[in-house]
Amino acid sequence: MAYTGRLRKVKTISWQNNKLIIIDQTRLPGQLRYLCIDNLKTMFMAIKEMKIRGAPALAAAGACAVVLGIRKSKAKKYLDFKKELDKVVAHIGSSRPTAVNLFWGLERMVKQAQYNSNKPVKKIKEILLKESKAIIQEDSLICRKIAREGARLIKKGDNILTICNAGILATIDYGTALGVIYESKKQGKNIRVFACETRPLLQGARLTTWELKKMRVKVTLICDNMAASLMENKKIDKVITGADRVAANGDVANKIGTYNMAVLAKFHNIPFYVAAPLSSFDFKLKTGKDIPIEQRDKKEVLSLFFKQPIAPKNVNVINPAFDITPHNLITAIITEKGIVRPADKANIKRIVNLK
Ligand code: MRU
Repeated sequence: MAYTGRLRKVKTISWQNNKLIIIDQTRLPGQLRYLCIDNLKTMFMAIKEMKIRGAPALAAAGACAVVLGIRKSKAKKYLDFKKELDKVVAHIGSSRPTAVNLFWGLERMVKQAQYNSNKPVKKIKEILLKESKAIIQEDSLICRKIAREGARLIKKGDNILTICNAGILATIDYGTALGVIYESKKQGKNIRVFACETRPLLQGARLTTWELKKMRVKVTLICDNMAASLMENKKIDKVITGADRVAANGDVANKIGTYNMAVLAKFHNIPFYVAAPLSSFDFKLKTGKDIPIEQRDKKEVLSLFFKQPIAPKNVNVINPAFDITPHNLITAIITEKGIVRPADKANIKRIVNLK
């Protein structure tokens, strides 16, 4: 079921009367359309087709998908329930491989089930619903903390370049990289954002400019290949992006093209910041080389957002959705616990261990 509605207070994902309500991001900016989802199959496709997307939003989406997936389980004993749960979790995990937040959300659900394994299955299901709601609520708070930390790095009148969408739409209701922008604006810093369009799926053009305009932030849309020229002409003071996975050494996976921006920023002596919650860190992976990169359908590259074809159908295409920015190109990583500067293994450890 879908319905269009006026934007009141955007929540990318929420529970209403035991159904999941998500914004269908593939319809933006043309239409603000909410989907009402009550089964795993639809939710799985919503994640895969990027109706909901962005690393922190995927943590919540994954957790909520678990609730939908186990809801109808008839298992009476925990061990039978656990078998079904594991299957559901593995299935959801197969939707998108790069953002570690998805797996972090799934792991939280599994842990919660295990911790309560002595309770009746009915009770465990209730606990899992509660856990998915907690993940949603926590994200709101964490993004605001990241925003306050990050705003310390922003000066009045800064021109800030960003890529993809690391805003309200990529989280629950505030954003990471764009959260920093919202907080800076709130502090009266009069900033301007340059949004890279972000080929092939145009999250920058479709989503970032849409939400920045709603939030009354000055924004200018650029094609991805305009960034170097802007930097050369001293039009950019800072770059801020989000992250899909941060390896133990500080290497960052984020939307394809992020690495380009980081190289350009280094060349032009412009600070390059990454804003990410600790749920985006993957300490099991030593470096960015170990991060799995999602390869998406060539159709996304062969057309302009699945509409206008822009190349012969049979041309060779590659479509990696993410790239790795090595930590030595990153000035600092902004987390909810503070700023990791420089973005290296020792500093990451220090921040993570802060109370
Ligand atoms: O493919 P997407 O749209 O899910 O990619 C999203 C990004 O790359 C974001 O920058 C990242 O998830 C951080 S969102 C706060």
